[in-house]
Amino acid sequence: MEKTEMLKINKNCWDLVAPKFFGVDSLPKYGPFTVTEDEINLFDTIKHRKVLEIGCGSGHSLKYMEENGAQELWGIDLSSSQIEIAKATLKELKPRLFCAAMEDEIGIPKDHFDIVYSIYALGWTIDLSKTLELIYSYLKKDGSFIFSWEHPIYPYVKCESNSLILKGSYQKEGYEVWDSFKGENLPIVMPRRKLSTYINKLVEAGFKIEKVIEGEVSSEYDGQNEDFSSNYYSLYKTRIVPNTFIIKARK
Ligand SMILES: C[S@@+](CC[C@H](N)C(=O)[O-])C[C@H]1O[C@@H](n2cnc3c(N)ncnc32)[C@H](O)[C@@H]1O
Repeated sequence: MEKTEMLKINKNCWDLVAPKFFGVDSLPKYGPFTVTEDEINLFDTIKHRKVLEIGCGSGHSLKYMEENGAQELWGIDLSSSQIEIAKATLKELKPRLFCAAMEDEIGIPKDHFDIVYSIYALGWTIDLSKTLELIYSYLKKDGSFIFSWEHPIYPYVKCESNSLILKGSYQKEGYEVWDSFKGENLPIVMPRRKLSTYINKLVEAGFKIEKVIEGEVSSEYDGQNEDFSSNYYSLYKTRIVPNTFIIKARK
């Protein structure tokens, strides 16, 4: 399938499911049950910084940036529904929001941003090399790129019959086409990549990698032990298999 066709399918689906992600994957959270920005401080200083979010969704992470003193708020998202929701979330502010694919050159300024970040959105890219090349170009020298995404091993470990079972192939990369997403009967294209692919593509794009975090559980859950659960996300499973990875890289 052509890249443009995959993006069209994903845009249609995200336009429909957007309300189901209202404030769901947003800073200070990096992912379900995972350590938060308050615990790991990857962003250093946000005050007076120019920031760009890739896959800004409902705008709640940009709101967090504003609350922490960012000087300029920029966001890109494929879904026009998400952009409308983000505008409402950020209505008192003056964000620059673009309905566009992260893979596309849309005139975002080069060498402009102190921080580019993405919370549970980068992995949707159909073209990781192009996306990272663009992100690198948007950053000032020494600027940082911080992102979180589902840990690539997580979907292959299933909780069934009181056991964790490995199903499918972590080694096999490519594009899965699902018939439905979030209970809606519209197809969506889910790229599958290994952790090493993210790391190697960052290096190829010119980034220096400063930190890789493999989904440690947040201290918020200290002392809580969850019994076996067959839910896709559970504290039980996350204590055994990381559900999120976070990378900080620098131009
Ligand atoms: C889980 S949401 C991110 C939520 C966001 N971090 C927040 O704070 O609301 C993933 C987002 O990625 C967007 N997305 C998916 N594919 C994209 C692409 N190719 N280019 C830009 N955005 C994309 C979706 O529309 C969706 O809003």
